[in-house]
Amino acid sequence: MKKDRDNFSSNLGAIMAAVGSAVGLGNIWRFSYITGINGGGAFLLTYLICVVLIGVSVMIAELSIGRKTKLSPVSAFLSVAPKTPWWITGLLATLAPFLILLYYPVVSGWAIGYIKLSIFNWSEIKSDSAQVFTDFTAGTSSIVFSIIALLLTTGVLLFGVSKGIERISKVLLPLLGVALIILVIRALTLPNAFDGLKFLFYPDFSKITMTSFLDALGHSFYSLSLGMGIIITYASYMKKEDNLIKTSLSIISLDTIIAVLAGMAIFPAVFSFGLEPTQGAGLAFITLPSAFAMMPLGQLFSIIFFFLLFIAALTSMISIMQVPVAFLEDQFKLKKKTSLISVGIVSVILGLPAALSFSSLADFKIFGLTYFDFLDRVANNFILPITALLTILFIIFKFGINESIKEFLIGSNKEKSILTSMYKVAIVSIAPIAIILIMLHSIGLF
Ligand code: PHE
Repeated sequence: MKKDRDNFSSNLGAIMAAVGSAVGLGNIWRFSYITGINGGGAFLLTYLICVVLIGVSVMIAELSIGRKTKLSPVSAFLSVAPKTPWWITGLLATLAPFLILLYYPVVSGWAIGYIKLSIFNWSEIKSDSAQVFTDFTAGTSSIVFSIIALLLTTGVLLFGVSKGIERISKVLLPLLGVALIILVIRALTLPNAFDGLKFLFYPDFSKITMTSFLDALGHSFYSLSLGMGIIITYASYMKKEDNLIKTSLSIISLDTIIAVLAGMAIFPAVFSFGLEPTQGAGLAFITLPSAFAMMPLGQLFSIIFFFLLFIAALTSMISIMQVPVAFLEDQFKLKKKTSLISVGIVSVILGLPAALSFSSLADFKIFGLTYFDFLDRVANNFILPITALLTILFIIFKFGINESIKEFLIGSNKEKSILTSMYKVAIVSIAPIAIILIMLHSIGLF
């Protein structure tokens, strides 16, 4: 099983693939809408606190587990702690991306659909973007686009780790950076752009609640692709010479910078035209197109934006799908093609209700949430923090904090770094305690 494991061809390739996974719909679509509903600057601040104090530790933990064992999550936990229930952590870590895979292609499909709508149906978007969104998500074309998004992902994965994932990330990420910077410049040169910046950066502390903290925590894991086996899986393809300090710093800083830049492209546009930032999941698809419709050259910027969103989505979807696929390959010794096709078919079938959550199934509620929102909340606000917490406990009680630091530093030629000093403290204190408190609050315990 191990002998045919593909490796990344270079550290840069590995970094690009991991950044490609981290930077996705989460940075643009999800970050902006969740910041919008949670009051702007206050949420950004809470989010940054979660990234630095908790995300960094979980990142180091996952990187060291993955590279040390060279296995996908379930097998990795099993190999370090055989005959103990720790493997359940790996299973949860595999379940989260699987749940996300059921709705992620839906939003990715919207991005493709909106490239087409921006080109051919611009006048309709101009007159009523909310109606366009309702009609589009209720129609069959949105389902077709989601399937196209899944097929493209499957195609890349068929080429394997170094040829597929690595090559496509190396091309698409710089493109994404350029497109984003163009959009930020456009947004910042609009009248009253400052109101949007103020919303994004000026923290109104009264807006910080336990619920917004949970949202920030869940989103920090989601955005960094943590708590879901992705970083473990990617690290399992990394070599001993690869510098994990550089890798983790690149993932964390690029992911955060891109989210903030996306906010700087979206909120000034929204505020400049007097629109509300609290639309929720429709912010990028209803509110933002309305803003584009009112600006000079808006159609062009709309096309650029949805193209950007799609690129970001594709490189992440590759990593999401990789987890259940590697699980079937490693655990059940299935061939890659068979695993890919099985995961693809199951996700189309179980994902269909997510696509319909905005139309025919809008009134079908699970715990008061549509199927789409249910998948999103269960995965992000529950499974990810729980998996992250279990991973932390696993490091403390089984893998060993020093062992993980040792593994983390191999390849960097350093004895210690600021990151590992922070890690030593945070992994036994702030990270687990904060996760437990926030989770307890979310189930109403205090
Ligand atoms: N981190 C990705 C994003 O921000 C989402 C993601 C989720 C990636 C799950 C992998 C797994 O969009």
